[in-house]
Amino acid sequence: MTSNRRRSLSTALTSALAAPAASEVPAPSAARASGTATPPPAPAGPAQVTVDLDQGGDTISRHVYGHFAEHLGRCIYEGFFVGEDSELPNTRGIRDDVVAALRALQIPNLRWPGGCFADEYHWKDGVGPREERPRMVNSHWGDVVEDNSFGTHEFMDLVELLGTEAYVNGNVGSGTVQEMSEWIEYLTRSDDSPMAALRRRNGRDEPWTVPFFGIGNEAWGCGGNMSAEAYADLARQYSTYVRNHAGNEVTRIAAGAHDGDTHWTEVLMRALGEDLGRRADGDPAPFQAVSLHYYTMTGPWEDKGSATDFTEDEWYAALSRASYIDELLARHSTVMDRYDPYRKVGLVLDEWGTWWNVEPGTNPGFLYQQNTLRDALVASIHFDAFHRHAGRLLMANIAQTVNVLQAMILTDPETGALVLTPTYHVFAMNAGHHDAAALPVHVTLPEAAASVDGRELPLLSASASTKDGSALISLSNLHATESRTVVLDLRGAEVTAHRGQVLAAESTAAHNTPAAPDAVAPRELTTIRPHARGLEVELPAASYATITLDLA
Ligand code: AHR
Repeated sequence: MTSNRRRSLSTALTSALAAPAASEVPAPSAARASGTATPPPAPAGPAQVTVDLDQGGDTISRHVYGHFAEHLGRCIYEGFFVGEDSELPNTRGIRDDVVAALRALQIPNLRWPGGCFADEYHWKDGVGPREERPRMVNSHWGDVVEDNSFGTHEFMDLVELLGTEAYVNGNVGSGTVQEMSEWIEYLTRSDDSPMAALRRRNGRDEPWTVPFFGIGNEAWGCGGNMSAEAYADLARQYSTYVRNHAGNEVTRIAAGAHDGDTHWTEVLMRALGEDLGRRADGDPAPFQAVSLHYYTMTGPWEDKGSATDFTEDEWYAALSRASYIDELLARHSTVMDRYDPYRKVGLVLDEWGTWWNVEPGTNPGFLYQQNTLRDALVASIHFDAFHRHAGRLLMANIAQTVNVLQAMILTDPETGALVLTPTYHVFAMNAGHHDAAALPVHVTLPEAAASVDGRELPLLSASASTKDGSALISLSNLHATESRTVVLDLRGAEVTAHRGQVLAAESTAAHNTPAAPDAVAPRELTTIRPHARGLEVELPAASYATITLDLA
């Protein structure tokens, strides 16, 4: 595989515009979206969504609602960390408002410090007295000088303030085995080992818990430009020394493929060989999960499309490309099934989301983009796919949490004012799916699917789950201009009460700003009616809705 993405990465990294371009996969193509081949059909009647409320299946890991914070642009600095001297309310330099907003989402994990940055990060530069920490150049992202003022202690402080779990990403590309080995010892060891002692000297007595550890990142590109075979050997080697110390059980995540590169996944699975069977009783297998990255964009790498200024065709193109994640998860899972039929190894989509052109006038290396109702539906489509693949998908991390790519939170560079994006609201509306049992959902549409760039896009997406005597149904009306009546055919349990929320707006490009922070915000869904089969609901055009059912 020589993908556009890999080629463009190596060129782009040197120009500080780093990162991957659209994939090599046949669909969706890397070319600018040509748009819909046929106009999207108007709904020809009610859609039917059948939900078997008594058929709870695989548990949807709450970790598929995970997050990602890289030393990139204004994500860590300004986004999370403003320093103790900031006028913005903060706790040890960490923004209180950002913490509060993310606590409300119950974010299950946070990946750090990268991304591409992880493979040039040397963790010892980020511990000890701040004024003594060495500086480095963040060559991937804007070519800026990183002063290492946000390091391991600050990150673990953030994790504790958020009440979340740490996903620390180690350095394979330019780091040593010893460095990685010492980092996990520093983080998690409780006795008087050399690294535990160093941690204490730096002010932290108790070890932290680190459940997830990444063995490099994008080793096919910014993480070292390796072949799958070369990386697979290194993944085994480095993972071996990421030990379980003091009762801390680490899930080691090998740096995986992007897009449709199933060869990469296959090589990693093959590299596990017989070690797959050693997890339960004895030494852990070298790694317990493999990752995958997939970004949604409507143009080629050089011109990915505007976040806010898009045509109706680009609306559908983005949603079609988002829905492609379902096929990608199926393809990578199928490869994994061949080597691991009992699903002991997790698939971790630790980077996903929209990647648009940066906002005009902002640093091209900082990846700052606006976030519209379209981004919200890209997210809801991904979540429906995540729920369908709950049996294999261990974790997913949207890129990235604050001020970078498909963010939950944007902060104003002048005033610091915080805005919650439409994507944030989808995470909030879906919180009930965390650790719930996925329910079988069948969508029947009276009209043919739209044809977008040669692929079929049904204009309604849905999923459901059940937990604690209730069920949560997610519905996305992907039609840009037409509302949609949906009959919910509810089987297998009695529904005693229902309530709903809807995310819709004046236009598909609607977004939130400090001046209009609630242009896109959830409101009560008042169009739910009883129906002979269960319920009937009216969804506005271009909208996302959740319906909670109390079950007898
Ligand atoms: O999320 C931005 C970048 O995208 C990450 O650093 C890298 O892993 C990917 O190419």
